[in-house]
Amino acid sequence: MNNCLVLGGNGLIGSFVAEKLVAKGCNVRVFDKFTGKNNLKAIETKIEKVKGDYINQKDVRQALDGIEYVFHCIHTTVPRTSIEKPVFDAETNILPSINILRDSCELGVKKIVYLSSIVVYGNTKTIPAKENARLEPMTPYAVSKMAIEKYIEYFNRVYGIDYAILRPTTSYGERQVVSKGTGVIANFVFNALRNKPIVIYGNGSSEKDFLHAEDLASGVIAAGFNKSRFKIFNLGSGKVISLNNLAEKVKKATGNNIEINRLNKACEVQRLVCDISRACSELDWKPKISLDEGIKRCFAKFKKDV
Ligand SMILES: NC(=O)c1ccc[n+]([C@@H]2O[C@H](COP(=O)([O-])OP(=O)(O)OC[C@H]3O[C@@H](n4cnc5c(N)ncnc54)[C@H](O)[C@@H]3O)[C@@H](O)[C@H]2O)c1
Repeated sequence: MNNCLVLGGNGLIGSFVAEKLVAKGCNVRVFDKFTGKNNLKAIETKIEKVKGDYINQKDVRQALDGIEYVFHCIHTTVPRTSIEKPVFDAETNILPSINILRDSCELGVKKIVYLSSIVVYGNTKTIPAKENARLEPMTPYAVSKMAIEKYIEYFNRVYGIDYAILRPTTSYGERQVVSKGTGVIANFVFNALRNKPIVIYGNGSSEKDFLHAEDLASGVIAAGFNKSRFKIFNLGSGKVISLNNLAEKVKKATGNNIEINRLNKACEVQRLVCDISRACSELDWKPKISLDEGIKRCFAKFKKDV
């Protein structure tokens, strides 16, 4: 039985990672601030919960005791908020991650699995981006993700800690905090359920690849325990959809004639698409939850929150 620590294990992605680790028979410790809703009800009795702030090195060091595998699923900002607070983004993500890496090496952790992001590719010319594409991060969030990836490679080179880095596309799912307005799909569904207009920022032509958080978590687990010679993997659904078409899909799912409004606001990257063939072949992984099924799950769950 492997001893695993899931940092941010109460979040959208981390909670599915924790659930899948439990299902695999691992000993699971979840470290989180636990300020939001409880996403761990189903496995509550099978995990150890540690409340703490990952900015506080002492908290994380204690949680690392006896751990073999670390699944790092915390970032304190999203691209938009990192633009407003670049110093906060760097201080509360790059520095704590260096501490985690240094402590993990000192305490004998075998492997760190890091949730980076597709946004590290930014405006790269190679579309869909392969893992060896040039990284051109466009926001402080993306720069931090890239910096943490590089620190992981440094600690592997110098201290030998094993690692896997995942670069997922946009994730979504029924465990998102809808009231915060985060996440395009959660937002669209939440508004639709309240019979409010769906709001698209920009003209709606920008295309994204949406991956359900449960599928993402399967990829994270596969990367955590695989013996591939590769260390970096893109994860996505392999399909893209424009925001206009996504809004129409959500509208159709409601059965109501709700409005779709477009606000004139620039988007960060016009087309967020990556090539997932490496993860599919090397990790024997493939996404299973279709966008229609994922939207259905969000409707079913969010109905209770409206
Ligand atoms: N959601 C996406 O679309 C997406 C896409 C690519 C990469 N990622 C990355 O995946 C990871 C997980 O994302 P998510 O969508 O599950 O986020 P989330 O906000 O749903 O979950 C993050 C969890 O971390 C916890 N947390 C945040 N700050 C903390 C702190 N200082 N100390 C302790 N706990 C803290 C929160 O309480 C929450 O439970 C992040 O690194 C994110 O950047 C997310």
